[in-house]
Amino acid sequence: MADSGAAARTLPVLNAPIGHDSAPRHVSGEALYIDDIPEPRGLLHLHVGQSARAHARVTKLDLTKVRAAPGVVAVLTPVDIPGKNDISPFAGDDPLFAEGEVKFMGQALFAVAAETLPKARAAAALAVVEYEDLPPLVTAGAALAAGERIEPTQVMKLGDARAAVAAAPHSLAGHLNVGGQEHFYLEGQVALVVPGEGGDLHVWTSTQHPTETQHILARVLACPDAAVTVEVRRMGGGFGGKETQSVQWAAMAALAALKTRRPAKIRLDRDDDMVMTGKRHDFEVDWELGFDGEGRLKGAAFELNSRCGFSADLSHAINDRAMFHADNAYALQAAEIVSHRSRTHTVSNTAFRGFGGPQGMIAIEQALDAVALSLGRDPFDVRLANLYGVSGDLTPYGQTVTDSVAREIMLELAENCDYRARRAAVAKWNATNDHLKRGLALTPVKFGISFTTTHLNQAGALVHVYTDGSIHLNHGGTEMGQGLNIKVAQVAADAFKVPLSAVRITSTRTDKVPNTSATAASSGSDLNGMAALNACRMIQERLAAFALETYGAAPVYTPDGVRLGDQLMPFKAFVNAAYLARVSLSAAGFYKTPDIHYDRATHTGRPFYYYAYGAACSEVVVDTLTGENKVVRVDILHDVGRSLNPAIDLGQIEGGFIQGMGWLTTEELVFDAKGRLTTHAPSTYKIPTAGDRPDVFNIAIWRAGENREDTIHRSKAVGEPPLMLAISVFCALTDAVASVGGHRVMPNLDAPATPERLLAAMADVRSRAGG
Ligand code: MTE
Ligand code: HPA
Ligand code: MOS
Repeated sequence: MADSGAAARTLPVLNAPIGHDSAPRHVSGEALYIDDIPEPRGLLHLHVGQSARAHARVTKLDLTKVRAAPGVVAVLTPVDIPGKNDISPFAGDDPLFAEGEVKFMGQALFAVAAETLPKARAAAALAVVEYEDLPPLVTAGAALAAGERIEPTQVMKLGDARAAVAAAPHSLAGHLNVGGQEHFYLEGQVALVVPGEGGDLHVWTSTQHPTETQHILARVLACPDAAVTVEVRRMGGGFGGKETQSVQWAAMAALAALKTRRPAKIRLDRDDDMVMTGKRHDFEVDWELGFDGEGRLKGAAFELNSRCGFSADLSHAINDRAMFHADNAYALQAAEIVSHRSRTHTVSNTAFRGFGGPQGMIAIEQALDAVALSLGRDPFDVRLANLYGVSGDLTPYGQTVTDSVAREIMLELAENCDYRARRAAVAKWNATNDHLKRGLALTPVKFGISFTTTHLNQAGALVHVYTDGSIHLNHGGTEMGQGLNIKVAQVAADAFKVPLSAVRITSTRTDKVPNTSATAASSGSDLNGMAALNACRMIQERLAAFALETYGAAPVYTPDGVRLGDQLMPFKAFVNAAYLARVSLSAAGFYKTPDIHYDRATHTGRPFYYYAYGAACSEVVVDTLTGENKVVRVDILHDVGRSLNPAIDLGQIEGGFIQGMGWLTTEELVFDAKGRLTTHAPSTYKIPTAGDRPDVFNIAIWRAGENREDTIHRSKAVGEPPLMLAISVFCALTDAVASVGGHRVMPNLDAPATPERLLAAMADVRSRAGG
């Protein structure tokens, strides 16, 4: 705790490129993750017995040998659950343990709690399970054909798109398969539960959603919410994979703790984590565009079908977000967006950075490439001609886009990265090189900020000022590496103009700030920053009344101390004086996003408070003999409004882009015909490594950025939008593939664009282009 008096005078903390508060601890190992917490005496370790079938009736589940195995203290099955056997966020279709019927391969049947993890694992293997096989629906296409869906098909409409396409001078149609993605957070799913007195439970878990964990555990255990305290210091990554799907493991550990009166821990092995938890939804997209001779859109129709898995989870909202982003940054004029949500016998897919937005967005980018190719125009020009703010401002859901800066950003980026000259250089290279082909693309991102489920846009914070001038800061958001805690601490330090070191960052806890939303939808700093500021302002109002009465002047907070008329008082002395005058120095702050509303029945409204924008230009080189490829240069210009912390924001932009690049290039999930995930370890599932980082990687925060809405210090959310900048890599690869046919035919390229797919696409292009 630094002195908050004049001696500690420092640079402003707001808008400053301050490193992540945990960075030194991440490096030294001091940062505590759940598995680092010293294990309590009597701790039990859990291992989960899984279904070996994707779809079957369980005709026999004999756990006699499991119960008798060495070290086993308890075996948990549905009969042990005092409350509901359901861990779903709302739909009631996610059992903690499957009962009667299994619906995906890897589904939990039972859990063993034993003295050690190896003993729990060995015991679980002794289960005798017999199945009566039922036919599995593995793909979204198969489920759609069978009429299996998690909710009725949704439709969003603006005008009459089919008629507009038919009446347009030109039209094109295409189909795109977009793969899913494994979260691959470095810290896997883990929870530690310690029972207290009178049925109290303290739960340490790696979750983006402490409140939902608390509420669902109470529902499973049939106890009041108030008996369960959930605590999260940090996650080793979440990326959406811990918005709902962390709850099952915490619930198992809580059930074990309740049943045995002993502490219990569960930590999934990487393979189990990959098999048992949901991923990004893969999509099949059919698109149709009508346009004029310059590539200006007259109408667009999209039909989306996603693999939701066996239960709803968050698939309603995720598929809604795919619809919201089918336009990306472009005014469609007339639109019809049809969205099927297919129920399959695979693990329930879930939130993943972008929350359906990336899958919705990529189709129009491929479609605009097809339009440009068909007209012999540069795709960059076709994109520019269709931007919101250029050719219209009405979205397919009736929200008017008033803040589009996509054109400014694209033009500035094109200038900075020498787009036109490089377009010519790439064409020249391709004309003279047979084996290595280059591709180039510059694409924009427009991403809607707010939970589209309007009531989730609220947050709380708890601020205590102690009499030594130190400040305890708590809020409802969770830290998953994205730098939320440092940003909110900057907001609090700035409010009192004290050094950042005066603000103590603490664990997120449901007993400090209740009834919170998941840290998701990129809204963590928008919501919790405002709630923390609100708490600071409440304390300041009381301090102002005290100061007026005592010193005859309103206090002005400065880095030198508190100015009271012509007197300057150290912050510590001022708050101590207030304490002696019996002024409360603690407050619970609250915030809710204004001016948003949405009617899901008609899919119209203003779901987003504002939009975040960015653009990326990627250049790739593809080996036409092998399909191997490399992203050689990337330039990014991204809008974060007035950045709360440019160092953190740059990290989010870089990390998001690379994660998106992995999704679209090397990360491939393969389910076999029986519904088995065959890519369930890093040996077969390839995430980007340091060597995949582009050799030239220029990232800039847009200097002119400023949020036109009254967000926390006019900043913009940054967590998810940059992932979609990686669509430029996919388009650049498409451009390289098209070059083998002299840009005469549009490649059929699905995502991820693996070397195999690139090779096949090039062969196909050559044959269609006539050699
Ligand atoms: N960055 C890191 N390092 N780790 C993460 O798990 N999750 C992303 C993004 N950036 C994530 C991350 C996702 S999916 C979201 S929604 C946001 O961070 C959540 O945090 P925020 O709302 O505070 O931006
Ligand atoms: N994003 C992330 N999580 C969510 C959303 C969203 O828009 N809506 C509900 N949960
Ligand atoms: Mo992020 S997918 O909204 O957790």
